[in-house]
Amino acid sequence: MIVLYLQVAGLLHDIGALAVQFCFPEEYKKVVNFQKTRKVSIIEAERRYFSLDHCEIGSRLCLEWGLPAYLLDCAREHHNLSCRNYANIIEPVIIANSFLNAEVDHQVTIDYKQLIHSYCPNKNLEGNEARLEVQMFLYSKWNSFQQGMQEQVSSPA
Ligand SMILES: [Fe+2]
Repeated sequence: MIVLYLQVAGLLHDIGALAVQFCFPEEYKKVVNFQKTRKVSIIEAERRYFSLDHCEIGSRLCLEWGLPAYLLDCAREHHNLSCRNYANIIEPVIIANSFLNAEVDHQVTIDYKQLIHSYCPNKNLEGNEARLEVQMFLYSKWNSFQQGMQEQVSSPA
């Protein structure tokens, strides 16, 4: 059952970004341009143009549509590394989203210093060293999560 929750959470976590892009396509192009030229997070860029970010918009949509609380929290918290609500669902979404944003889209959505503080508190690294350390940590976390999922699927209770 958790696999289904994860799939839905993974599909809907950025629903706020889709809604904003659909309703305000020209304004959103300015947001993306601002984010890329200023090298700020997409959240910071969205707040500058809309006074809200896609996380807040997504959670409001989930509330309006009467979606389950875990989806509302996932939409609101999927960039918040310290979120512990529905951790077994939201944490994998945060990790997958971080990887995709950083390594595929080359977007700054995660502060590596914050990641280091959250996940590797004994390390005092900066720059590429911090990035590499965090990537290795997240990759190992992702691998162990996938392994756990495969074990659940192959031997259901
Ligand atoms: Fe997002």
